[in-house]
Amino acid sequence: MEQYVIKGGTPLSGNVDISGAKNAALAILAASIMTDETVTIENLPDVRDINVMLGAMQDIGAIVDRVDKHTVRINGAHIEDVAVDYEYIKKIRASYYLLGSLLGKYRSAEVALPGGCDIGSRPIDLHIKGFKALGAQVDISYGLISAKAQRLVGNHIYLDKVSVGATINIIMAAALAEGRTVIENAAKEPHVVDVANFLNSMGANIRGAGTDVIRIVGVQMLHGTEYSVIPDQIEAGTFMFAAAATHGDVMVRNVIPKHLEATTAKLLETGCEIIEYDDAIRVISRNIQLRHTQVTTLPYPGFPTDMQPQMTVVLGLAAGTSTVTESIFENRFKYVDELRRMGANIQVESNIAIISGGDRYTGARVSAPDLRAGAALVIAGLAADGISIIEDIQYIQRGYEDFEEKLAGLGAIIEKTSTEREIQKFVLKAS
Ligand code: EPZ
Repeated sequence: MEQYVIKGGTPLSGNVDISGAKNAALAILAASIMTDETVTIENLPDVRDINVMLGAMQDIGAIVDRVDKHTVRINGAHIEDVAVDYEYIKKIRASYYLLGSLLGKYRSAEVALPGGCDIGSRPIDLHIKGFKALGAQVDISYGLISAKAQRLVGNHIYLDKVSVGATINIIMAAALAEGRTVIENAAKEPHVVDVANFLNSMGANIRGAGTDVIRIVGVQMLHGTEYSVIPDQIEAGTFMFAAAATHGDVMVRNVIPKHLEATTAKLLETGCEIIEYDDAIRVISRNIQLRHTQVTTLPYPGFPTDMQPQMTVVLGLAAGTSTVTESIFENRFKYVDELRRMGANIQVESNIAIISGGDRYTGARVSAPDLRAGAALVIAGLAADGISIIEDIQYIQRGYEDFEEKLAGLGAIIEKTSTEREIQKFVLKAS
C-alpha cells in the first residue's frame, strides 16, 4: 500500500495546470461506443477511474488505442457483449453510464450494481425511472441491472431529485431513441453540458444542457468525432483550497473560471484575494487571517459536494465558528475523525459540521476514507506543523493526476512512499 508523506508548513506558490475533468471524461468514454465510427478524445485525465473504464470497454469488445497519456482513440463497431463484468463495476461507479450507452445503441445492456466511493447510499432509482419511461424493461436480480427494449421511444421525464448520473444516462439512451424526450429538473453541472456537446458533435440533437430542462430529439445513428474534455473544476478547486490553507499564492491554470464561481465566492468570504483571468484563477492567501463562513452543498451552480471536505479543512484554520451543511450525500463527513487527529475542532450533528477554527493543524498519521476527503487530508497535511502520513491514497489516485508531482511543483514537501523504510528516510531528510 502506498502513502503520502508530507512535511507541512510551506506556503504553496507558483503555477499549476489542471487536467481534464474525470467525471465528464467517464461519461464521454461510455458515450464514445454509441457509434461504429472511430472517436478521438483529447484532454483525458490519466487517473485510475479512467483506466478502469477503458478496461471495462475493452472487455466488451471496444478497440481502445491510447495515442498518448491524454488522448485515446476508440472504436465501438465490434462490441460483442452488452454485459459488463462485475470486476470493473465494483471499482467505479461511473460504469453505470454503459447502461445508457449500450441500451441506446443495442437496446440491451447488463451491468452489475455500481460501486464507487462510500459517501452515502447512492440509489439509482432515477436512472431506472428514466429508462423505463423510454420503454425499456429494467430488472434487478443477482446484483445485476439489465435493461432491454424492443423500441426506445422519447418521453417526458421529471427527475424527482437533481442527479448528474441519471441526467447523463437518460440523455445517452434518448439520443438514439425514436422521437422527442424532455428531461425536467435536469442536473446543470458542467460535465452534463460537456457530455451533451460531445454527443452533439457525433450528430445527436440535444438542446438545453446547462439548464433544468433538456430536450433531445432522437437520431438514427451517431458518427465519429474528435473532442477535447473540459478542465476538471474539482481538481482546480482542490488546488485553490490548498493555496488558501497554506497561506500561499497559486495560479491555477487551464480552468473555466465560470465553473468555479461558488468556490471563488466562498474563498473571498474567508478573506483570500482572488484574481480571475480568461483561463486561470490566482488565489492569494499570504499573511492573512482566514475568516469563518457558512457553506451548504447544492447541485450546480451551488457549492459542490465534491469540494466540501477541502472547504472544511480551510475553515478549520479560520477564526471563529463556521458551519458546513452537506445536503447531497449523507455519509460525507467520515474524514472528520481523521481531521480531529490533526487537531481540528469539529462537531458533526446530522448533516452539519460545526467548525471552531484554530490557527494550525498538527501532523498525524491518517487514512483517506474516499477520493475528495483524501485530497482534503493532504491539504491539512500541507498546512500542518510537522510530518503527516496519509494512508490509503489509492482513493486519491482514482481522480487526481500526478497529485504529488503537481503539489511538489508548487513547493510542497511531499513524497509517495510504499514502505516504512521510505517513510523513515523522508522523515530523516525533512527534519
Ligand atoms: C456524480 O455522482 C459524481 N460522480 C460525484 O463525484 C458527485 O459527488 C455527484 O455527481 C454530485 O455532484 C461521477 O460523475 C462519476 P448524483 P452521481 O446522481 O451521479 C441522489 C467524485 O468525488 N440520487 O448527482 O452518483 C443521490 O443519492 C464523485 O468525483 C437518487 O436519489 O451523483 C444524491 O443524494 C463522488 N437516485 C443525489 O441524488 C438516483 O437514481 C445526487 O447524486 C440517483 C441519485
